[in-house]
Amino acid sequence: MELVFSNFEVSSRRFLHRRFTSADKPAPPPEGRLPDATQGSDHLRQVFGKQMGLSDQDIVALSGGHTLGRCHKERSGFEGPWTTNPLIFDNSYFKELLSGEKEGLIQLPSDKALLDDPSFRPLVEKYAADEDAFFADYAEAHLKLSELGNAFP
Ligand code: HEM
Repeated sequence: MELVFSNFEVSSRRFLHRRFTSADKPAPPPEGRLPDATQGSDHLRQVFGKQMGLSDQDIVALSGGHTLGRCHKERSGFEGPWTTNPLIFDNSYFKELLSGEKEGLIQLPSDKALLDDPSFRPLVEKYAADEDAFFADYAEAHLKLSELGNAFP
């Protein structure tokens, strides 16, 4: 399954974005509110749940965004991709997380925290087993995150 947005969806999102963000959020949020990769479940719930109003399901689905890209030592201090195919958006982040640490791949403390938490772990297992479920929940969570808005300088 591919994630495809129609022109209608894209323009609707732009409209909603302008409607709800430009007037409501005249300035960017303060610095220092990004999640800290060295922390665990409580911190993830503080940032995504308390500050942004997202659910446990949203937190796990969004963490699957790490199926793309990599860590850079000079930026975060961590190094390497989460998956062997970091240019492909799929559910391999969850499969890798469950299969344990491997040479050349990274698992941040905040990724591993998803395995230890009794509410997060079943979702990791679900998304590893069912890619369509991951895509559906990711799309929902990403939309919520986008509609929280941001302010452009
Ligand atoms: C759950 C809390 C999160 C933490 C603690 C976290 C932490 C990090 C860290 C440390 C990096 C590496 C930065 C670098 O060294 O260049 C990173 C990269 C990345 N993150 Fe997250 N992240 C989180 C959530 C998310 C979410 C919600 C998304 C998107 C849905 C996301 C998407 C990405 C992507 C795509 C990269 C790769 C960037 C690149 O290749 O340059 N992350 N994240």
